[in-house]
Amino acid sequence: MILIDGKAVAEQIKKEIAAEVESMVANGEKRPHLAAILVGHDGGSETYVASKVKACEVCGFRSSLIRYETDVTEDELLSKVRELNQDPEIDGFIVQLPLPKHISEQKVIETIDYRKDVDGFHPVNVGRMSIGLPCFISATPNGILELFRRYKIETQGKKCVVLGRSNIVGKPMAALMMQKAYPGDATVTVCHSRSHNLVQECREADIIIAALGQPNFVKADMVKEGAVVIDVGTTRVPDATKKSGFKLTGDVKFDEVAPKCSYITPVPGGVGPMTIVSLMRNTLLAGKKSIYK
Ligand code: GUN
Repeated sequence: MILIDGKAVAEQIKKEIAAEVESMVANGEKRPHLAAILVGHDGGSETYVASKVKACEVCGFRSSLIRYETDVTEDELLSKVRELNQDPEIDGFIVQLPLPKHISEQKVIETIDYRKDVDGFHPVNVGRMSIGLPCFISATPNGILELFRRYKIETQGKKCVVLGRSNIVGKPMAALMMQKAYPGDATVTVCHSRSHNLVQECREADIIIAALGQPNFVKADMVKEGAVVIDVGTTRVPDATKKSGFKLTGDVKFDEVAPKCSYITPVPGGVGPMTIVSLMRNTLLAGKKSIYK
């Protein structure tokens, strides 16, 4: 069994990005600039956004954090999005999700200029991704593809089961794993909360990508000997022995599943750090105007 060290790969990629940024700046080009909008004080969102700002620093990017209280109106937020769309200083920006109930996430996402949508959530980017055109690919699926590349994991012709059908992970992951490319060329099945045959599908899978958000859902008896298991879950499970009061828990029962795997990602330290680094890669692409002029 090979433990996929997402943290180490992410550190390596950040170094590669930082080197590229320094050579851009030495050539008189602009330093890439990412802005993040954070609404409210959700613990998870605070942590993720702080990690994104920190990663910008490591990569040599400029970053701006724009905060609003939970009672910000949808109009106020949309005005800020339009302002960032127009701001030539900002190469790309994100609005951290989830948003309070009174704000339409879809409206916010569709208001972002797709050319600055480094999260890859805008329908233009999602559509282009699904037909294999250059675009911003959403961070978590893109981070997983990069792990396949860096560990040279074969995907062609493999049976890949994606657990979960979210717009952020499950759907784009399935589209990418079936694309005619490496990583990809897999036979993809998407299972979700209404699937009748989820356990049997998993037992037959060469690759399982678990993104249900249900701690310890994937058990040893659901995994074939030699399977590749990618765990996207990051649920905060209460744990009195931790200083934070919680334990970040994956969708895979790691201790019993790991011995059966050819490759497996841990939680934390697997997919999570790759998600942030994928956002950094998109910001670099935005700064270089590599995808959209
Ligand atoms: N919330 C959870 N994951 C993400 C992400 O990748 N981007 C944004 N903007 N919000 C999130």
